[in-house]
Formats: sequence, structure tokens, C-alpha cells
Amino acid sequence: MKKLLFLLPLVMLNAGEDFISHYEYGEMLYNNPRGVSCAQCHGEDGSGTMIVSLKDANGVNEIVGADIRQKTFEEIVQSLNGYHEIMPRYYLTDEEVKAIYDFLKKKNKRFLIAQKDTNTSR
Ligand code: HEC
Repeated sequence: MKKLLFLLPLVMLNAGEDFISHYEYGEMLYNNPRGVSCAQCHGEDGSGTMIVSLKDANGVNEIVGADIRQKTFEEIVQSLNGYHEIMPRYYLTDEEVKAIYDFLKKKNKRFLIAQKDTNTSR
């Protein structure tokens, strides 16, 4: 037993690597993706939020960030690598997008399960 004690610092070093979890990494990237935070337009959980509301003679016009909770990883990659009218262009690696994707999936786990249950078309 005593002999094994010298291994302890090594074990602790390894634990340090996981100091921020994959989930926290994804959350960090979602909120600070080297550019405007996704949360600004897609809300803190990806369900979408109002970006601007314009009122004129025709009434109220709202620009809303899309609900991206049910998007697949491929859809998110494709969207982030394209150009949009409102959404900025990002330069994230596939690994970074995967972390964002996993963060959204985990954060919305309950919602996604509920969606599946009510979806009778499949
Ligand atoms: C300035 C606001 C804004 C920011 C910031 C933003 N988005 Fe968007 N995003 C939009 C809008 C508006 C749309 C829908 C219209 C379009 O395609 O431009 C959209 C569409 C998307 C779509 C496709 C949705 C669909 O229905 O096809 C995905 C996926 C997405 N955003 C992910 C992200 C992620 C991930 C980030 C952060 C890295 C981000 N967005 C940052 C405004 C934004």
C-alpha cells in the first residue's frame, strides 16, 4: 500500500485534465464562440430568443433566432459553415461544434425525450 502512494500525484495530475468537463467546455463555447454569443440569438438553451422587435405602421415585426434544440450535429456544422443574413459566420472546428452540440443535447435532455414521446409520425 505504502509503495502505491508515490503514484498519487500522477493520479491527481490526470484528474486535472478533466477539470472542466466536456459539457462545461460546450457551454463556454456556446456563450463565447470567438464571436457573438450563440445565446444572444438562440437563448441560453438553444430554444431561440427575440433579437429585435420593430414597430411600424404595419404593426410589430420581430426577428427571432431559430430554435436549434432538435438540430443534428451535421445540420449545425453545415449552418455554421455557411453565410446567413443575420447570423454571423463562425470559424469553429468540428470538435468545438461537437462540444456545443453535446452541450445543447444534454441541457435539453428532458425536452428532447418529451418531443420523441409526442412524435407519433415516427
Ligand atoms: C446575431 C444572431 C445570431 C447569433 C449570434 C447566432 N445565430 Fe444561429 N441563427 C440566427 C438566425 C436569425 C437564424 C435563422 C435564419 C438564418 O439562417 O439566418 C439562425 C440559424 C441557425 C441554425 C440553423 C437553424 C435552422 O433552422 O436551419 C443553427 C444550427 C444555428 N443558427 C446555430 C448557431 C450557433 C451554434 C451559434 C453560435 C456559434 C449561432 N447560431 C449564433 C441568429 C444567430
